Amino acid sequence: MSAGQRPGYFITLEGGEGTGKSTQARKLVSLFEARGRKAIATREPGGSPDAEILRDILLSGVVKSLGPFAEALLFSAARIDHLDKTIRPALAKGITVISDRFSDSTRVYQGIAGNLDQRKVAMLERAVLNGFLPDLTMILDLPPKIGLERAAARRSAVADGEAPDRFEAEELQFHRRVREAFRALADTEPRRCILINAEGSEEVVTQRLWAAIERRLLNDGGGLS
Ligand SMILES: Nc1ncnc2c1ncn2[C@@H]1O[C@H](COP(=O)(O)OP(=O)(O)OP(=O)(O)O)[C@@H](O)[C@H]1O
Ligand SMILES: [Mg+2]
Repeated sequence: MSAGQRPGYFITLEGGEGTGKSTQARKLVSLFEARGRKAIATREPGGSPDAEILRDILLSGVVKSLGPFAEALLFSAARIDHLDKTIRPALAKGITVISDRFSDSTRVYQGIAGNLDQRKVAMLERAVLNGFLPDLTMILDLPPKIGLERAAARRSAVADGEAPDRFEAEELQFHRRVREAFRALADTEPRRCILINAEGSEEVVTQRLWAAIERRLLNDGGGLS
């Protein structure tokens, strides 16, 4: 079978700030492409032109004062457009989609770390996704202190420096809760989710991620040669 005839996989990368999601999404796309399979990297919030406008609003922090439910609604609105305009069309063409964050971030950031009622989070997820979930979710796990240091170093590397975004600006305690919530998710949904140690070099982390992709997705008859 040619690569184009195989279905596209929907893979999400989750985890706290600075754990390497954006870096690794790009690397995984290159690995898929090098094996003759089309793949795209995308991200949340954002991932489509209209959702990117919502991203700017969400990460600016202006929505925080509306509370976690209103924030979750806006994330959900962005997710609807991302699904409609980017994710579903790509998968339909057999393109593998690697998303830097997806619905698990809403569960964790607004639901658990933000103390939003779990029933509201579940209701929203049902309304937006109607059971559509990633084929594989890889959770990059790192002590928050290291992740925040990495994110701060990235910001200071741009010409005139950048302010921390709405979530980076939260206290360390918030980020510890985020980490614990992601770890708990890996425990409760082990068929879909896998915890990946995000310490070590970029290359080492890429190897861990790729090994998980091979084991979970590619070795079941649809493997890459
Ligand atoms: N394994 C690694 N070791 C050291 N530095 C890394 C590693 N992976 C990524 N970095 C660097 O750390 C910074 C954060 O990485 P990246 O932007 O990929 O993380 P992220 O999870 O997307 O963060 P955010 O949640 O803030 O978007 C970047 O400057 C990146 O180059
Ligand atoms: Mg990122």
